[in-house]
Amino acid sequence: MQIGHPEIKDRLVAGAVLGIESSCDETAVALLAGDGRILAETVHSQTGAHAAFGGVVPEVAARAHLTHLAPLTEAVLAEAGVDETAIAAIAATSGPGLIGGLIVGANFGKGLALAWGKPFLPINHLEAHALTARLPGLAEGGLAFPYLLLLVSGGHCQFVAVEGLGRYRVLGRTLDDAAGEAFDKAAKLLGLAWPGGPALERLAAEGDPRAMALPRPLLGRAGCDFSFSGLKTALAQAVAGFPPGPLPRTAAADLAASFQAAVTDVLADRTDHALALFRARHPGAASLVIGGGVAANQAIRAALTTIAARQGFRLIAPPLRLCTDNAVMVAWAGIERLRAGALGDLAHAPRPRWPLDAPDMALTPTPVA
Ligand code: KG4
Ligand code: ZN
Repeated sequence: MQIGHPEIKDRLVAGAVLGIESSCDETAVALLAGDGRILAETVHSQTGAHAAFGGVVPEVAARAHLTHLAPLTEAVLAEAGVDETAIAAIAATSGPGLIGGLIVGANFGKGLALAWGKPFLPINHLEAHALTARLPGLAEGGLAFPYLLLLVSGGHCQFVAVEGLGRYRVLGRTLDDAAGEAFDKAAKLLGLAWPGGPALERLAAEGDPRAMALPRPLLGRAGCDFSFSGLKTALAQAVAGFPPGPLPRTAAADLAASFQAAVTDVLADRTDHALALFRARHPGAASLVIGGGVAANQAIRAALTTIAARQGFRLIAPPLRLCTDNAVMVAWAGIERLRAGALGDLAHAPRPRWPLDAPDMALTPTPVA
């Protein structure tokens, strides 16, 4: 991405940005004014299309994005009451994620950009999650860099020091499953429908979190990496101890509560370590942001609030619809990049893997003559 002429930059920043998200199983479109106000937003969740398979089927997802993107975009523009003349740029998730969906969304965005003569901004999905809490009005008093992000979703589980736009330091990540993935696998073992996180949380409310002694992988270890596969295996063994067939309701509830308690303990411990590591680098910083679908879990939120407060941090948890995959965050990342002078890149190829600390995440200013 390049830094452009100041006048071009001012014109782009004044206009609205259309965001497109298609990296997994949510098809989402949003329109934000240049100042970050949300003009219209919509999300089509494909859960129904994938539920019968017990997980996201990439081919099904890509086709569904293709079906839904154009009508969702029309609906967003209609709701906002604008046409393309109000739009300064198109921002679309271009990685990381399922490549079929990324190609559909990014090329849809490029098509609009070409047809309307606007810049196309390829957005890193993780950057979009990382910047969400900077949306105007979301964090009291605003949220300045640097801050610590805990991203916990079905596909991602990492601590990121958000030091500036394009400047991300991954402090720790999962060595195996993501936290949401662990919830989904545990839910499946307990006979709950996919995606299992919310169902497991509901079932856990009826159970005793001390009923079953499950492991807390990496608890107390140095650093802030995660591991969940051992916990999942321990749960599978506990389930195997019951006679074949559906688990008795009380046993399933006890196992759900015990599993959730183990994940919560691990997340709390890892966050405790991550906050200390982050503070050592940034002594004045005091904000912890959580994002991703698992951030919806009340037990986890409560534990993180306690840990953050103990270390003198405020916990910023965006509203759930902005924690899970959405296009508002994509448009907002586009706005942040436009403000920093990005001009867009029609030649950008979507990438299934695109870590936040990849070299091309940094903004590289090129002086204009
Ligand atoms: O961020 P998200 O919507 O999609 C991505 O994975 O990118 O996160 C979905 C994940 C799923 O694994 C789901 O089971 C988990 O978040 N999840 C939850 C809860 N709500 C969603 N996990 C635990 N407790 C919840 N209440
Ligand atoms: Zn996501």
